[in-house]
Amino acid sequence: MEKENVLILAIESSCDETAAAVVKNGREVLSNVISSQIALHTVYGGVVPEIASRKHIEKINQVIETALREAGTPLQDMDAIAVTYGPGLVGALLVGVSAAKAISFASGIPLIGVHHIEGHINANYIENKELEPPYLCLVVSGGHSHLVVVRDYGEYEIIGKTRDDAAGEAFDKVARAIGLGYPGGPKIDKAAREGDAEAISFPRAKVADAAYDFSFSGLKSAVLNYLNSCEMKGITVCQADVAASFQKAVVDVLVEHSMQAVREYGLNKFAIAGGVASNSALREALVRECGARKIEFYCPSPIFCTDNAAMIGTAAYYEYRKGVRHGFDLNAVPNLALGKCE
Ligand code: KG4
Ligand code: ZN
Repeated sequence: MEKENVLILAIESSCDETAAAVVKNGREVLSNVISSQIALHTVYGGVVPEIASRKHIEKINQVIETALREAGTPLQDMDAIAVTYGPGLVGALLVGVSAAKAISFASGIPLIGVHHIEGHINANYIENKELEPPYLCLVVSGGHSHLVVVRDYGEYEIIGKTRDDAAGEAFDKVARAIGLGYPGGPKIDKAAREGDAEAISFPRAKVADAAYDFSFSGLKSAVLNYLNSCEMKGITVCQADVAASFQKAVVDVLVEHSMQAVREYGLNKFAIAGGVASNSALREALVRECGARKIEFYCPSPIFCTDNAAMIGTAAYYEYRKGVRHGFDLNAVPNLALGKCE
């Protein structure tokens, strides 16, 4: 007989947030603790892997204890210990994986390894209790830009991905070039509100042989060329106009690919996930375009878009129900592939 209530302690440490959460029955978040290292990495203009690993080690036990305390659930009540084991920075991932294995070994509670992107996608279930597969999901983060058909829980088909930079990476690089600093996404989002998105015409790249693939490095180069030519001509650059025009170029491509795919695959539900899913212009455009096509649109609150452990607990729940358990040979896999079709 199936258990009535399944409690999962989830751990996430793939990049620069040390996070732990307790999730009940997949969609009820009892606690969601995130210790961000952003301030530490800001001085270097990006995440420094070695510093990230060291900070994870310092914080992980405290973050896990806080998550259990805030949830009001002792460790022995957990049905599984879930952990992100890839993709991500290998040293950072190892901290979470080692902590999860140690807790699982000492307590006898089963271990479940989770794919980071699967976590991002599953973040949509937390606040949308009615959402069920199949649907299309656009995953846009600092390391990934994927269009994924979610066929069923844990069953993913990647139909498009970036050929070069991820969307978030492009935001971060352009922000640095125009002097906004790290992390670039939220700063460009804010600056763009004061700018004219039509002021500068930046390219919308298409990948000739793959309709749903993305390419953002050409756009990044176009921004850099624009900045150089302004400097050579002695023209003062309007930071807000560059931010708004660049952001519009990214959003246009993401929205166009997504709407084309949702139609072609005959789906009537569309979700977004990952750090860039917090972008206000992207959300507004998708609300409008999905509304016009009578497609149900789902997006997590910003706290569940950014890296967190609640999403890992949600993804682990569906794996738990299928009987997935990992052994103590679970290792960090920095380039772990998603789903069976990649
Ligand atoms: O999912 P995430 O927290 O970490 C990864 O798994 O990569 O995503 C971080 C990325 C960063 O590149 C950050 O600049 C971007 O998400 N980001 C945004 C916004 N908030 C975060 N990009 C555009 N607009 C935002 N509001
Ligand atoms: Zn992420």
